[in-house]
Amino acid sequence: MEFNPQEKQWHLFKFKLQFFSVVSFLCIHLSSSAVLAPILQDPSTRLQFLSLYLRTPYQQPTKLLVDLTAPFSWVECTCSNRSSCTYRYHPLPCASPLCNWLNSPACSNCSSEPTTDPICSDGLCHLFFARPRYRKRVRVQALADSLALPVTNGRNPGQLEVVPEFVFSCSERSLLKGHVPRGVTGLAALGRSKFSLPAQVSNSLSSPNVFALCPSDSPSAPGVAFFGTRGPYFFLPEIDLSKHLNYTPLLISTDEDEAYLIGLTSIRVNGRVAVKLNRSVLTVDENGFGGTTLSLSTPYTVLESSIYASLVEAFVNESAAAAFKLTATQPVSPFSVCYDAGDVLVTSAGPAVPTIDLVMQSNDVVWRILGSNSMVRMAREGVDVWCLALLDGGVNPPATIVIGGQQMVDNLLQFDLDSQQLGFSSSVLVHDTMCANFNFTVNA
Ligand SMILES: *[C@@H]1O[C@H](CO)[C@@H](O)[C@H](O)[C@H]1NC(C)=O
Ligand SMILES: *[C@@H]1O[C@H](CO)[C@@H](O)[C@H](O)[C@H]1NC(C)=O
Ligand SMILES: *[C@@H]1O[C@H](CO)[C@@H](O)[C@H](O)[C@H]1NC(C)=O
Ligand SMILES: *[C@@H]1O[C@H](CO)[C@@H](O)[C@H](O)[C@H]1NC(C)=O
Ligand SMILES: *[C@@H]1O[C@H](CO)[C@@H](O)[C@H](O)[C@H]1NC(C)=O
Repeated sequence: MEFNPQEKQWHLFKFKLQFFSVVSFLCIHLSSSAVLAPILQDPSTRLQFLSLYLRTPYQQPTKLLVDLTAPFSWVECTCSNRSSCTYRYHPLPCASPLCNWLNSPACSNCSSEPTTDPICSDGLCHLFFARPRYRKRVRVQALADSLALPVTNGRNPGQLEVVPEFVFSCSERSLLKGHVPRGVTGLAALGRSKFSLPAQVSNSLSSPNVFALCPSDSPSAPGVAFFGTRGPYFFLPEIDLSKHLNYTPLLISTDEDEAYLIGLTSIRVNGRVAVKLNRSVLTVDENGFGGTTLSLSTPYTVLESSIYASLVEAFVNESAAAAFKLTATQPVSPFSVCYDAGDVLVTSAGPAVPTIDLVMQSNDVVWRILGSNSMVRMAREGVDVWCLALLDGGVNPPATIVIGGQQMVDNLLQFDLDSQQLGFSSSVLVHDTMCANFNFTVNA
């Protein structure tokens, strides 16, 4: 076949056009696949909240509480009537692709025949989940609005990337029980459901279903949450924390929308003393009770009574040993073990106290808790002590161990829902950086 020169030009042009559109398509997808959000700790409640942009047509800065167990996000309902609505969210009809993706049982169960079932009557999409462990079934209306977060290359934030139809719900403020920092107007669900913020962001941006948190306890310098990327995660001075992760499987619980469960098998104190514990309470039973979960809305790690007692005993005993020579003093509520601040040597990784190792699937996969994460300073009314920041959860709690916020600050945690793994760094302070060291200068 012969082309005349003009045809040749045309074919070359068409080829170039296709080539460049493929390249720019790839570029857009490569550059826009990961986004981030700053996360800040409220000093009085020690809860973490993240900042993002919500609402159409104006991108309104919105602060939401970070919750690792919640299945769907919600914001305050601020409308007394439609015209006074400040949120321009809209309900999703059952017959929308997004509702189809969410696979709302409220829609799939009542497609054709008219019915008196209130779930089916309105033809609107609902978020629905059940939590047998808490004997809870929840159904809320699905609302949608645009959400925007800055893209990131792992070093800086960039331009805003928009998720055009982010699904959430709205609720009365009373659900936050007044325990939240001023300006926080809802909750960001980072749980394992497919309605969660990370799942929706990765679905919309065609990025991996992975998110990572590096919470800070500084009242002014935020930590960071990355969505849709397995790294790099750069912190000043040029430390890529994705290189410092250990991995443990995320276990599937009987509750499909349950908190993240990990397979903690034993606890060591000071690198050598194995805490006496009843292994059967560590595993999840057939009713979904037991196991080890993570919760940022729990300020301090809570342990089942017998494990708490053994751990405290070993910790107090090791603290008294020659290397530390610490004698417990009058404890400050809610803690039971405290040491005079004057007796405690403070290092770059916090107070010098025995380490607490959470041993995962094998003896060399260890989440090491150093003084900066195990101890909290309590200074008030003439008392100045460092206390072991763990709490007694009583007998038969729903989860045997809930790893809380104090034990997660300045740790990088990567939740990989595609490979069902938790990556954890232990304290990033030992790598000469901290979660507040992310460079938030916008890179245009
Ligand atoms: C809606 O609320 C706004 C502000 O609260 C009020 O001014 C307006 O009259 C209300 N409209 C209706 C129809 O109730
Ligand atoms: C939907 O139907 C399935 C199968 O018939 C049933 O198991 C499920 O409980 C139903 N869900 C609701 C919300 O009614
Ligand atoms: C371990 O815990 C299980 C479940 O709570 C209990 O039935 C069992 O008696 C405990 N074993 C020991 C040695 O305490
Ligand atoms: C307490 O420490 C001493 C010596 O350091 C050790 O011999 C003893 O076994 C320890 N007890 C417990 C319960 O860890
Ligand atoms: C932070 O990022 C900006 C933009 O890339 C860069 O110009 C600046 O040097 C960085 N800051 C530090 C301390 O490296």
